[in-house]
Amino acid sequence: MSEATGKKAVLELDGKKIELPIYSGTLGPDVIDVKDVLASGHFTFDPGFMATASCESKITFIDGDKGILLHRGYPIDQLATQASYLETCYLLLNGELPTEEQKEKFKKNVRQHTMVHDQVSRFYNGFRRDAHPMAIMVGVVGALSAFYHNNLDIEDVNHREITAIRLIAKIPTLAAWSYKYTVGQPFVYPRNDLSYAENFLYMMFATPADRDYQVNPVLAKAMDRIFTLHADHEQNASTSTVRLAGSTGANPYACIAAGISALWGPAHGGANEAVLKMLDEIGSVDNVAEFMEKVKRKEVKLMGFGHRVYKNFDPRAKVMKQTCDEVLAALGINDPQLALAMELEKIALSDPYFVERKLYPNVDFYSGIILKAIGIPTEMFTVIFALARTVGWISHWLEMHSGPYKIGRPRQLYTGATQRDIQR
Ligand code: SDX
Repeated sequence: MSEATGKKAVLELDGKKIELPIYSGTLGPDVIDVKDVLASGHFTFDPGFMATASCESKITFIDGDKGILLHRGYPIDQLATQASYLETCYLLLNGELPTEEQKEKFKKNVRQHTMVHDQVSRFYNGFRRDAHPMAIMVGVVGALSAFYHNNLDIEDVNHREITAIRLIAKIPTLAAWSYKYTVGQPFVYPRNDLSYAENFLYMMFATPADRDYQVNPVLAKAMDRIFTLHADHEQNASTSTVRLAGSTGANPYACIAAGISALWGPAHGGANEAVLKMLDEIGSVDNVAEFMEKVKRKEVKLMGFGHRVYKNFDPRAKVMKQTCDEVLAALGINDPQLALAMELEKIALSDPYFVERKLYPNVDFYSGIILKAIGIPTEMFTVIFALARTVGWISHWLEMHSGPYKIGRPRQLYTGATQRDIQR
């Protein structure tokens, strides 16, 4: 629970003083409780929530100036290199890393829910084959609520917990099928003898004609690490969307579908796909200088750079770059786009335009290069992000429902027409 500091901020308005309580967390800035501003007949005003703490949470902490990201206190680089994605899922959901016994039980529980009702596969047929897989994911994940209406009492903690397992377990199956559908290949069903990341890559790339398809362990390890690097990130736009939808009492599948929709934007999770398109557009290192001039003229953004919170290196980008080097070396790939990306980074880290604006590579800058090396098509990059972030979304949804909450209902500064009558 946050600690009342005993300190108060004093707002002086129209000669009156309003005392606003200040609370402290365990890490990060104190917060000023502004709800009493309403009594003064004012709203606070913070478009984009630049200075707004929307809730209290124990799940993830970010220090944007120092480039720190902790999940339940553990640094992201340690989780990405010393724990599996499912161990990180357990940590996000339960607050502690699992014991060996808890880990095996959790893995078994997830494995038992990787299949989906066979009717779910029919939903895909309603889409054109050239549909963007994120469009399919929004539709199919939201539709899951139609299959679990007898397990959707959000006041029942058991219903909430089984829903979390179902979503974490089924999202790789639905994601792989969104790819298979767009390439005209038959759906491949999950296998319970494979690890979480292996199973996903198996469902992505195995075909009935290749019964002995083996997932490359180097790629499975890289995939698992990429999942971990995307698992959660405090109150980002999509997580805030899930919390806002959840605050109305909407069912968790509908809330996660709302999160997938918000993630799709190129300013958020859609950036990984946009980075590869940007690298394709630049083409070669020779064109970098001209492209950077376009960025400075604000004609384009440098995708994969900048962050609302990080004004230093995104710690995930560092691990992602290290993973990129490992995967390309292991596969013997000399990807010219990596050289291009590194040239962009070098210039951005030295050019005053970017340095003044504290624009550093974020999680999306190098992820696309690894995903391409794994064989994932560009249109699937944000689907992978949504797959991995599902545990973060549902962890925040569970945290919100574990205690009292109010429906989220912001107000506005109205600058429209004053009242007037229809003149006929
Ligand atoms: C994710 O919130 C999260 O935690 C998200 C995320 C997560 O895990 O959930 O981390 C995932 O979404 C990462 C971000 C992926 N998006 C991109 O890579 C797209 C490119 N980045 C930008 O669109 C932008 O940096 C944002 C959207 C990420 C942040 O936008 P802000 O907070 O509005 O940027 P800002 O106010 O800090 O910008 C300051 C200045 C502005 O210029 P001036 O008006 O001062 O002249 O920097 C400029 C911006 O125009 N700027 C950029 C830029 N990002 C900011 N200029 C060129 N290229 C960019 N990428």
